[in-house]
Amino acid sequence: MSFVKAENFTDQRLLELISDDKYNEYLAKKADKVRQEIYGKDVYVRGLIEFSNFCKNNCYYCGIRKSNLNVERYRLSFDEIIMCAKIGYKLGYRTFVLQGGEDLKFKDEDICKIVEEIKKIHPDCAITLSIGERSKEAYRSFFNAGADRYLLREETSNKNHYYKLHPKEMSFENRRKALFDLKEIGFQVGGGFMVGSPYQKDEDLISDLRFLQELKPDMIGIGPYLSQHDTPFKDMENGSYKKTLRLVSILRLMFPYCLIPATTALGTINPFGREEGLKAGANVLMPNLSPNSYRELYSLYDNKICTGDEAAECRNCLELRIKKAGYNIVTHRGDVSEYKKMY
Ligand code: SAM
Ligand code: FES
Repeated sequence: MSFVKAENFTDQRLLELISDDKYNEYLAKKADKVRQEIYGKDVYVRGLIEFSNFCKNNCYYCGIRKSNLNVERYRLSFDEIIMCAKIGYKLGYRTFVLQGGEDLKFKDEDICKIVEEIKKIHPDCAITLSIGERSKEAYRSFFNAGADRYLLREETSNKNHYYKLHPKEMSFENRRKALFDLKEIGFQVGGGFMVGSPYQKDEDLISDLRFLQELKPDMIGIGPYLSQHDTPFKDMENGSYKKTLRLVSILRLMFPYCLIPATTALGTINPFGREEGLKAGANVLMPNLSPNSYRELYSLYDNKICTGDEAAECRNCLELRIKKAGYNIVTHRGDVSEYKKMY
């Protein structure tokens, strides 16, 4: 495999590509070529365990925000989380993503215990945390307990825009700093943003891409903003499906070695969104492993897909879909390519 160089678009070219639907096919073709050169037709799968929908934050766009009193809250027990991982392992998952709201009932040491136990039972698996902001010491303790990766979308790189999406108690600076702290500690780090979040301009997306160039993440997760009926943004328009696909392609071209998921939000806005995401340059899927009875309660946005399926059904359904689209599911940890270090 030869080293693939990252595309260096000018701001003006990015603006052109981001703003016009006519570029979808052009970008997807180029991105698919790059993805194939590095990752072939392989698709890495991660078993997603949404272990708590309690959250201390009040992001205006998010269905599980603290002030949404219409959400029935749940928390998985230690045993339930471990059981999800065991079921996932049998289904062939070798990465588990523990995701939740910022739920302080799970103390730092509780998270460490969960990570340690999963690693003890399944040492060949990778663990990704997606639990929001904690202290640097906490991140370090998670890493020492065996966590490998951390997903923390910056959401937006524009400070004014950040405070249109989040209340002032939250900190733009802290979110950004957290990403650099996580990198320094040694995590494989994932950033990202929503496409079409309320008040977002195309110029903001360009600055988001520039921020990611500075961060040099291993993973980048993007999906369309989707409204949720109990949030302050309930009447805001959803993000654009086609623009999200274009951005997936642009990400692949600018960050050739990154792990880029075709997200659940992309599959929610269009029934073939995940397949099209792969064709546009994505190489990761994150099917749900959470117990069936809780799925609907993790309602970040309306009409979320796969809320009724069992873990095994999700796995089979995805395998069929991926094969039909011309890709192969891979059963290993699916770490970022070693070549990533070179850029
Ligand atoms: N609490 C953790 C955090 O803050 O990173 C992880 C959970 S959070 C719900 C995961 C991601 O969901 C967020 O980073 C955000 O980009 C996305 N999200 C939340 N509400 C959304 C919405 N209405 N539409 C699309 N994506 C949304
Ligand atoms: Fe905390 Fe959405 S507001 S996860």
